[in-house]
Amino acid sequence: MKIVSTAPEETFSFGRRLGQLLREGDVLCLIGDLGAGKTLLVQGIADGLGLSEEVTSPTFTVMNVYEGTTPVYHFDLYRLEWPEQLEDIGFDEYTNADGIAIIEWPDKFPDFMPDSYLRIELTKIGDNDRLITVAAQGARYHLLYEELTRDCS
Ligand SMILES: Nc1ncnc2c1ncn2[C@@H]1O[C@H](COP(=O)(O)OP(=O)(O)OP(=O)(O)O)[C@@H](O)[C@H]1O
Ligand SMILES: [Mg+2]
Repeated sequence: MKIVSTAPEETFSFGRRLGQLLREGDVLCLIGDLGAGKTLLVQGIADGLGLSEEVTSPTFTVMNVYEGTTPVYHFDLYRLEWPEQLEDIGFDEYTNADGIAIIEWPDKFPDFMPDSYLRIELTKIGDNDRLITVAAQGARYHLLYEELTRDCS
């Protein structure tokens, strides 16, 4: 699925629709350059999940936890240098847990990412234009993908 977002608000509302479809245990991988809109998308997702906590970029903290009915583990792997650091932060536990895991910069450690996830790539195609490309990896995410396609058509 490919969508063009022409303003930050559109990326946010796409995130909100996606957030409404998420369930415990879901994993999202967000790919895109600096400033592509990954964190903004997470803000929309959090809104869709009904979270009231403020969503900020975990660039320096590596992970933020937002407590809700279902906790959200929001990762930014940009500053990690070695895969061993994933162990230090308990990455495997959090991505196989009771919550929803959202990972920015998963492409830093492709061999260490979960087997199944929804993959969302954001590409800057103009100052305020972003191409959002969604793909599913694994059965649960094919289902989620179909639901999302239905919502966005
Ligand atoms: N259509 C759009 N969708 C998303 N963001 C947009 C759009 N148009 C402009 N922007 C701007 O791009 C920036 C995206 O910033 P954001 O922090 O979400 O990026 P990021 O992908 O998380 O970057 P980083 O890798 O540094 O964490 C914001 O300042 C936002 O206002
Ligand atoms: Mg970010």
